[in-house]
Amino acid sequence: MSARDPGTERGSEIQGVLMADFLSQYSIQRWLEMCPQGYLDGTVYGHDPDETEPEELLEIGSLREASIAVTVQLIAGERCALAASSGLINHAPDDMSKTFLATQTLDEARHVEIFTQRLIDLGVKREDVNSTVADLANPNLVRFAEVLLEKVSSGDFVAGVVGQNIILEGMAFSVFEMLQAASAGNNPKFAQTLAGTIADERRHVGFGENSIGGLIRQHPEKRAEVEKMQAEMAYYMLATFTEMFSDAGTRMEEAKQLAMAKGENPMEGVSWHGADLATVTPSEMEAVLADTVLGEFKTRLGRIGIDYQTPKVPA
Ligand SMILES: [Fe+2]
Ligand SMILES: [Fe+2]
Repeated sequence: MSARDPGTERGSEIQGVLMADFLSQYSIQRWLEMCPQGYLDGTVYGHDPDETEPEELLEIGSLREASIAVTVQLIAGERCALAASSGLINHAPDDMSKTFLATQTLDEARHVEIFTQRLIDLGVKREDVNSTVADLANPNLVRFAEVLLEKVSSGDFVAGVVGQNIILEGMAFSVFEMLQAASAGNNPKFAQTLAGTIADERRHVGFGENSIGGLIRQHPEKRAEVEKMQAEMAYYMLATFTEMFSDAGTRMEEAKQLAMAKGENPMEGVSWHGADLATVTPSEMEAVLADTVLGEFKTRLGRIGIDYQTPKVPA
């Protein structure tokens, strides 16, 4: 077919438009319009300036402690995402990926900052933030982060993007959605903070899927190693869920019982992935979260040509 063939010219014109769309989707310009000038406009640390943590959360010791413990896991996860997204920039194979990862780096730094601010709003002194995170970060979540950051520091872009933008962010996305559903009725401040991070994570997960499929096809020899990493990260994630639901989940359950004894149930009528939050137990909620995240992994990994590996079940 000649280069002047109108069909071919039309085809390459369409290709050109699609490529321009694809590039602009991950540009800094697009990020500015969507994020700082869009859903974050007018917010302070991710929420409306006049929103505060609810009083009963600060007054009921078990609820405050559980909220601190949950927030620490969010900070630990976001610190890992910050280290991974910034660490991957210099290993990215093209300018579009470098540009996108630069925007993601700022998103993740913001997430670290807003969840750190929440810890302070919950009464942790600024000078005690690091020791609180070190004391309360779940060891399985720390190991989960180490598996990913080992790939990033060895310059493995393919494994790093799958570990970060599909596994870490897929987990974060569902955890944030669950927490947002649970906070919508009784903590608008936290729910709004989460809504902004969910919008960011959706963009990050989309980049992982769109950018990495071609690289996996070019490097089929990477698949076995990436699949092994996925199974390992999923194992540490499930172990984190188990410990968090038996610890913070139990204290949240106590607080819910306390509210119900006063004739209130802030979760009335709220459901998430089929679980009725007014009646669900911590162990039932853990199972729904695990199924949701693993289902997401399976779908997203399938789209980039990776075979999902069922993780070992934590003892
Ligand atoms: Fe994040
Ligand atoms: Fe992210």
